[in-house]
Amino acid sequence: MMKNMAMRCKLMLFGIYGTVFLSVFCGCTDKTSSFRPGAVWADTDGVPINAHGGGIYSENGTYYWFGEYKTEGRAGNTAQVGVSVYSSVDLYNWDNRGIALQVNKTDSLSDIIQGCIMERPKVIFNKKTGLYVMYFHLELRGQGYNTARTGIAVSKNVIGPYRYLKSLRPNAGIMPDGSYNDSMDYLLRDLSKGQMARDMTLFVDDDGKAYHIYASEENTTLHIAELTDDYLGYTGRYQRFFIGRYMEAPTLFKRDGCYYFIGSGCTGWAPNAARSARATSIWGPWQELGNPCRGENAELTFGAQSTYVLHVPEKDLYIFMADRWTPANPIDARYVWLPVTFEDGKPVIEWRETWKYQL
Ligand code: GAL
Repeated sequence: MMKNMAMRCKLMLFGIYGTVFLSVFCGCTDKTSSFRPGAVWADTDGVPINAHGGGIYSENGTYYWFGEYKTEGRAGNTAQVGVSVYSSVDLYNWDNRGIALQVNKTDSLSDIIQGCIMERPKVIFNKKTGLYVMYFHLELRGQGYNTARTGIAVSKNVIGPYRYLKSLRPNAGIMPDGSYNDSMDYLLRDLSKGQMARDMTLFVDDDGKAYHIYASEENTTLHIAELTDDYLGYTGRYQRFFIGRYMEAPTLFKRDGCYYFIGSGCTGWAPNAARSARATSIWGPWQELGNPCRGENAELTFGAQSTYVLHVPEKDLYIFMADRWTPANPIDARYVWLPVTFEDGKPVIEWRETWKYQL
């Protein structure tokens, strides 16, 4: 009996050391060399990537993926940890670089106290200040989705730690540009305290001007708001678009001088049909182009919801990034990344079980 046990222990140790030896000395860790939309996607430590509602910032050939760090169970729909960051040079294999912005765990008066909601973080770099600037959708703790605020954090290093600066409602006291023919009930209601800002993205144009695009007015209408030169506030120039269309999960990108939008309808964590649009000026007019998705489950965006479109200029590649949410166990939400192609100037996203980009 004892002999048997000793033998078993030896075998176990041999197995463990053998695996460690093989992976460390032979470099035999499983390298990923294709995208598998919806499959579990492990980082280079073999742990599933935890960066939901994410966005990508790239610099000198390295990509940084920022996202919501989700935890297990219903509580994981609130921010228990903060915003995570991963880096990669090939977009397939991602190193875990830690938590870029931590929730506050001690000061119950902090806007980002553990248990608040921090969603859809996006990072851009400001050349004038040399600071990386993170915007995210913030809901103060214990108030559901009622506060609809924008959180802003900065860092001298791309991976952080980011320092939380402030939260606000954009454009308090300022009327948008554009015609005033449409319903403005919510806009006027919120005029003095600032406009609601929920699902969001950031976009930096070729001239260095940055814009915050967010679901506003009780999610009925998107706003596009110009940021100040340091990206830490608003110039006061903003416009409503897709008025009354209940669009969420906005992404914005540029191709051949045209601006493109891909977003979703408004059904919470449940998927719906994606929306797309195009404009020759960021201020519009925006022409809607319908659901860009094609293939099985295209009417539900393949079970996912947009979060970012990554442009990789060297490869003339646009990648649609989306989240397949699992609100009962948020940590298990999956990523759906698919290439965006263009037909007659319209974006098209076709379902693929697996795909690679051309080098
Ligand atoms: C979705 C939104 C998510 C999250 C969720 C909460 O519509 O896109 O980011 O806010 O609602 O129900």
